[in-house]
Amino acid sequence: MKTVSRNWVASVQVALSLLGLPYSAGTSGICRKNAINSTPSLCSSTSVYMSTVAHIKARCPVYPGSDTSRFPVPDDKVDWKTDWPQYYPVNYTAPTVLKKPVWADPEIGEFPPQFNSLDGSVDRRSHDGLYLILNGKPLNPHGRTGLEGRGLLGRWGPNHAADPIVTRWKRDSEGQRVHHTTSQLPMLQFVSIKRLDCGEWAIPGGMVDPGERISQTLQREFSEEAMNSLQASASVTENIQKRITKLFSSEGLQVYKGYVDDPRNTDNAWMETVAVNFHDESGNSVSEFPLQAGDDAGQVSWIDVDSSLDLYANHLHFLETVAKERNTHW
Ligand code: BGC
Repeated sequence: MKTVSRNWVASVQVALSLLGLPYSAGTSGICRKNAINSTPSLCSSTSVYMSTVAHIKARCPVYPGSDTSRFPVPDDKVDWKTDWPQYYPVNYTAPTVLKKPVWADPEIGEFPPQFNSLDGSVDRRSHDGLYLILNGKPLNPHGRTGLEGRGLLGRWGPNHAADPIVTRWKRDSEGQRVHHTTSQLPMLQFVSIKRLDCGEWAIPGGMVDPGERISQTLQREFSEEAMNSLQASASVTENIQKRITKLFSSEGLQVYKGYVDDPRNTDNAWMETVAVNFHDESGNSVSEFPLQAGDDAGQVSWIDVDSSLDLYANHLHFLETVAKERNTHW
């Protein structure tokens, strides 16, 4: 039980001064590749990333997959810069994570993590720039969540995911593109999966494995979750893989890269993703294969891209960007 109230502003400032860094809020990506303990002069303007955008899902009252309630954090107390001595976040790390599966870090003190760096094969750099370390633990750059520890997340600090958004034109029975009756704009469809963990429809994304390039994760997750490549026979797999490889080696449209307001986030661990759109323009690539749910997916389907969809995490926002960029119905 904690008995000493904490002054976060002072602590954050102390953390920064120990690092020899100025305190700077609301900046993003100023020094993307620099490690905190590398030479500051490599950065033209060394700064620490702390966003003023308040996360919402990361403050959901009950932590997912548990009956642990977060310490309630009102909007005006999310920002670490706001002094709040009465803040007593609940400490929670899921039992599955504490069992030390291969995808999870040990507890702080049990290993020497290289935060803000490529730590062996584990990428502990944030897409958004440098993050702070306080008492040996990374600090969520989007502010308080009401819960410390890692919750369901394996890594301290950023947990990297990748989201492949595979689209095709919606066509009628004669193969003509369908235009929306109101907007008159052509309609897109995207491959969506129903996640087994929460039952929500989502883009078939997943976690970046240690040492994996994001481009590999995008293709692997799509193959596993939407094409069920893990279960298919060798000849079918080869055929599917050829088409998928061709589509994924075409130039994708990156629609998002950075922090995700995810209900699993904590004060010390958070989700980040890169979302890339691969468009099957002619409809003769992966569009021709029957979709088959696999791995973490319960169902898989081509779904019309439309603003009324209800999707997991911030996936609707990714689709909106795709629709706007491609000038299609939204
Ligand atoms: C999911 C991604 C999602 C990310 C952040 C991952 O577990 O597979 O689709 O974007 O979490 O919410």
